[in-house]
Amino acid sequence: MNENNFYITTPIYYVNDRPHIGHAYTTILADTLARYHRLLGVPTHFLTGTDEHGQKVQNAAAKSNTAPLDYCDKVILTFSNLWKDLNITNDDFIRTTQERHKQVVSQILQNLYDKGEIYKAAYSGWYCVGCEAYITEKDVKCGESGNEHLCPNCGRALEQRNEESYYFKMGQYQDRLIQYIQDHPEFIQPTKFRNETLGFLTSKDSNGNRNKLNDLCIGRPKERLSWGIPLPFDNNFVTYVWFDALVNYISAIGYLRNDEEFGKWWPVNFHLIGKDILKPHTVYWPTMLMAMGLPLPKTVFVHGWWLTNDTKMSKSLGNVIDPREFLASHGCDALRYYLSAAMTIGQDANFTRYLFNLKYNSDLANTLGNLVNRAFALLEKFNGGFVPEVENLEDEASAELREKTIGVAKALGGTPDNPGYIDKLELDKALADVMAAVRAGNAYVDSQKPWVLAKEGKVEEQARIIRNLLEALRIVSGLLYPVMPNKMTELRLALGLSQDEVEPVYSKLTTWSGLKPGSKVTKIPPLFPRIDYEAIWGPLVDDAEPKAEKPAKKEKKAAEAPQVYEPVTIDDFSKVCLMSAQILSAEHIEGAKKLLKLQIATGKGEDDTRQIVSGIAQWYTPEQLVGKSIVIVANLQPVELRGVKSYGMLLAAKFGENLRLVTLDGSLPPGSIVG
Ligand code: MSP
Repeated sequence: MNENNFYITTPIYYVNDRPHIGHAYTTILADTLARYHRLLGVPTHFLTGTDEHGQKVQNAAAKSNTAPLDYCDKVILTFSNLWKDLNITNDDFIRTTQERHKQVVSQILQNLYDKGEIYKAAYSGWYCVGCEAYITEKDVKCGESGNEHLCPNCGRALEQRNEESYYFKMGQYQDRLIQYIQDHPEFIQPTKFRNETLGFLTSKDSNGNRNKLNDLCIGRPKERLSWGIPLPFDNNFVTYVWFDALVNYISAIGYLRNDEEFGKWWPVNFHLIGKDILKPHTVYWPTMLMAMGLPLPKTVFVHGWWLTNDTKMSKSLGNVIDPREFLASHGCDALRYYLSAAMTIGQDANFTRYLFNLKYNSDLANTLGNLVNRAFALLEKFNGGFVPEVENLEDEASAELREKTIGVAKALGGTPDNPGYIDKLELDKALADVMAAVRAGNAYVDSQKPWVLAKEGKVEEQARIIRNLLEALRIVSGLLYPVMPNKMTELRLALGLSQDEVEPVYSKLTTWSGLKPGSKVTKIPPLFPRIDYEAIWGPLVDDAEPKAEKPAKKEKKAAEAPQVYEPVTIDDFSKVCLMSAQILSAEHIEGAKKLLKLQIATGKGEDDTRQIVSGIAQWYTPEQLVGKSIVIVANLQPVELRGVKSYGMLLAAKFGENLRLVTLDGSLPPGSIVG
């Protein structure tokens, strides 16, 4: 029984598709989490692979005039090579066409058949070839003509089928599964997906009776589909793809083959899945495991979709974005960073090249790049490029930087009673916190001005500032290592750490003073050179991308040059009521690409809410805004924008193409007066 180890899986990918951003996301997420656990010193096993049987693959192979296995052998390379290029450290890669897998599937089927868990019966119903599943009458969607029967999942036309097949007695586990989900809140996360599965399992018909969970058809007649694992008790049938595919999670780790290995990793800590495959993972799979007498996964963790133009990215819709596109221009680490930082787990996010480049420039090129450049340049100029020996690293400003940086490391790791970002899979929050620590490093240089100290001959103080900066960089580079292993390796080596120390150890990230005084720090070329969108992709023409408001030359100059403003008196200023507010929800306004409609709280009571319309859609997605504590002008005359009333204005700072909201540096209730 897996007590102290960490086992994480991705879905196994269909080989009829080329990998896109959506596939890359799940795999990068799993890789990053696996790397964080290794960093925490936990024995880790990370599994990914490919799902190679079924109608879709059979059709795709036939279309390319290839035998199915030859076709799979070729296509899996597009996945395995991409994983190499994305620096994915999976411990195993399972293919459902491998003997080790097929044998276990056969054995499980035979065992369940012998136990009476599988039976043969006739069935007639609506079948979706795309999803390879029967659709129950109540779920069938009606087409526009009124005569078409469409799949509720993929929208394809359904076929009426009458056939004999084999069924797994899934329905008998309905009560047990409901009870299990209710008793184990951690089993399906985030909660909204737990509620979705519970909603499905406990739904009622129009008479108020609970809908029964159907048995699962697990056979497909060979005459129609030959590309599958034969049912061991009836050679005229092959196994339904989901019954075959889900077993990969246990066949790969030695189920029925190697008890010791299997016991080491099962039950799995996290099955990472996209929300499209919630039902197979939270209904089919747990009931299959119950029938086998195995413990259920600790957590099925569900993420949202990457969208293009608000639509799920998928091959059938022809709107996929190839991850390789970004490898040459921005590098693997930039893509890993963006995908990890820009999606809040459980929610959907739009992928646009514009937003990707914007975040690259602001977080990596500017914020992090700036800190690295400044620390290295100052060290070179004033300390000859060697880590300075400093007797006392302490002073007030340094203590603040140290607490902040180490605080982030601790927030990532958490404690047994208080799980950290990693255990909660809140990578976006973890990375936002790391970036806040980097900003604190930049602010520390600004406030401490080591160049002034050097000029004044305060050698010890100057050296202390630089040394503390380097320590902050050591910790930050360690925290970012699981997300950006290539660039952080470069940075850590440049900081004078040895090859053995490149891969960080968690305990060293929660302690200061880990660099060796006197070791050489090597100046390196910028880790993340600034990238101009247009230099890579040309003018912004794609509708999927927000039109960047290109600042007129004149405007840009004005932003950079010191400005002279008309003075106002304090009385003038006091006419403006500024207050803090919290964003409760945000949504797009139809037909107005730049605008977002926000509901905000301006106090604690239920009535203290109001609506504000703001032109920030090109910088923030609605998901990124919810929960933020902002500052608003509360007494502005209400206006109507695109037919929507706006009661106030939020404050934001703009420089060139970048815009950031003014937020509170700590927690105060909404409605606090700003002045
Ligand atoms: N083969 C099945 C899974 C079997 S697991 C036992 C399958 N394969 S898939 O290739 O179609 O998709 C696998 C996963 O890719 C999805 O669940 C999801 O994790 C990821 N994504 C595919 N498209 C996606 C997006 N547009 N956005 C985010 N992830 C999505 O389903």
